[in-house]
Amino acid sequence: MEEKARNILLTKEQISNRINEIGKQITNNYEGKKLYILSILRGSFIFTADLVREIKCPLKVGFMTTSSYGNSETSSGLVKIINDIPDNIKGYDVLIVDDITDTGITMDFTINHVKSLGVSSVKCCVLLDKPDRRKVNLKPDFCCFKIPDVFVAGYGLNYGDYYRNVPYVFNWE
Ligand code: IMP
Ligand code: MG
Repeated sequence: MEEKARNILLTKEQISNRINEIGKQITNNYEGKKLYILSILRGSFIFTADLVREIKCPLKVGFMTTSSYGNSETSSGLVKIINDIPDNIKGYDVLIVDDITDTGITMDFTINHVKSLGVSSVKCCVLLDKPDRRKVNLKPDFCCFKIPDVFVAGYGLNYGDYYRNVPYVFNWE
């Protein structure tokens, strides 16, 4: 497959160093709490796998699959649950983990869904934040990198169902 040149925004090393730092912050925040990591599929599977290994307090991990209607580069504004949370999370301190907050609609929807389940607290952690495109009032509690308004792929993020396995974050020049 022919492809335009790739521009690497975040290298493997940059990502892993930053996840190490964020992992320490999360560990400090959740010491003595009932931490439940809720990973939003599919985009956050790689980030979650690396992040949880940098969190040094007891935790449970669960996955939820959401989808915004349509299959374009931008969110449609409607979120549907494809697979719901597999556990009873009542009383837990939930940390939602996603690959990126763009418009913020997916995260806002997920936060409200989790809040309705009687949890003790809910915060969110994202690998990437594109604050320029926000459509709801949302600031991630833990964010590894802020990026400009460019479409990126790699490290779990897809373009047309591909590139999730690329170990760095890139865009096309
Ligand atoms: P939001 O609901 O607009 O915040 O979008 C969140 C979802 O859109 C993410 O979980 C991603 O799956 C997808 N998304 C947003 N921006 C990008 C991007 O630059 N590359 C790949 N996926 C993206
Ligand atoms: Mg996606």
